[in-house]
Amino acid sequence: MLTVDNVVVRFPKPHSQLIFKKEYQTILHGVTFSVRKGECLGILGESGSGKSTLGKVICGLLEPYEGSVTLGGTALYGKSKLVPGVLSVVFQDYTTSVNSRFTVREIIKESLLVLQRRTRTQIDFETEIMELLELVGLSADFIDRYPHQLSGGQLQRVCIARAIAVKPEIILFDEAISSLDAHTQVQIMDLLLKVKAIYNFTYIFITHDLPSVTYMCDRVLFLYKGRVAEVVDVEAIGTVQSEYARKLLHSILDIKVE
Ligand SMILES: Nc1ncnc2c1ncn2[C@@H]1O[C@H](COP(=O)(O)OP(=O)(O)OP(=O)(O)O)[C@@H](O)[C@H]1O
Ligand SMILES: [Mg+2]
Repeated sequence: MLTVDNVVVRFPKPHSQLIFKKEYQTILHGVTFSVRKGECLGILGESGSGKSTLGKVICGLLEPYEGSVTLGGTALYGKSKLVPGVLSVVFQDYTTSVNSRFTVREIIKESLLVLQRRTRTQIDFETEIMELLELVGLSADFIDRYPHQLSGGQLQRVCIARAIAVKPEIILFDEAISSLDAHTQVQIMDLLLKVKAIYNFTYIFITHDLPSVTYMCDRVLFLYKGRVAEVVDVEAIGTVQSEYARKLLHSILDIKVE
């Protein structure tokens, strides 16, 4: 479904001492992994390990210095352009990821327009928007509200509806539930699992929170300082080999590492 091959990302150092030559800091050091169709892959790592940078590379927002990303047979940074709507993203910061002057109707309609263009089918927007709202657990009277009239959890549900609306192959979540309270987190995770089962989506779930990975994911990739430390099935998480994964598990949960 998605292949990330030897991806290297580097940024210019902000306070470079050199005048004529830029100094670079490497953030991702040859990251390689693949995502299978229909699975949920968790990307777990501490703050600053490069998770969001990797997410940006995966969704086509940041061209890597080296390496390649292939989505459904199309190279993301090659000559052929990725068809809009094949991959959706849900970010942590739901307040800035929506246009504050748009109503819920307009936010979701934008995505449906992308789907209409891609599939060349006529869409009954009003019905579709109502169905999506119901699916994400919001009643019909939310349709005319503006983002500031919603709670964090409600707005994130709108963002999820928007991500689903394009009927993508893959949805990438970057800390999408991290800033919600524990109860809302579980509700949203249940919602995501339900939606995944209906549409057979493939998920990439970026987080620094181990419990949500074990709740949501089939496999987990440990990212440590811009390198893949290990990829394991979630059921086998207690048998991780790499030192980083073992340390992380020890520190977060009292998982007995054999
Ligand atoms: N555009 C940029 N220019 C320079 N440095 C950057 C840029 N984007 C990210 N970085 C640096 O790359 C490193 C990794 O950042 P990234 O946002 O990928 O981490 P993260 O794993 O998502 O962390 P968090 O869990 O806190 O979200 C950080 O040291 C950050 O300062
Ligand atoms: Mg991040």
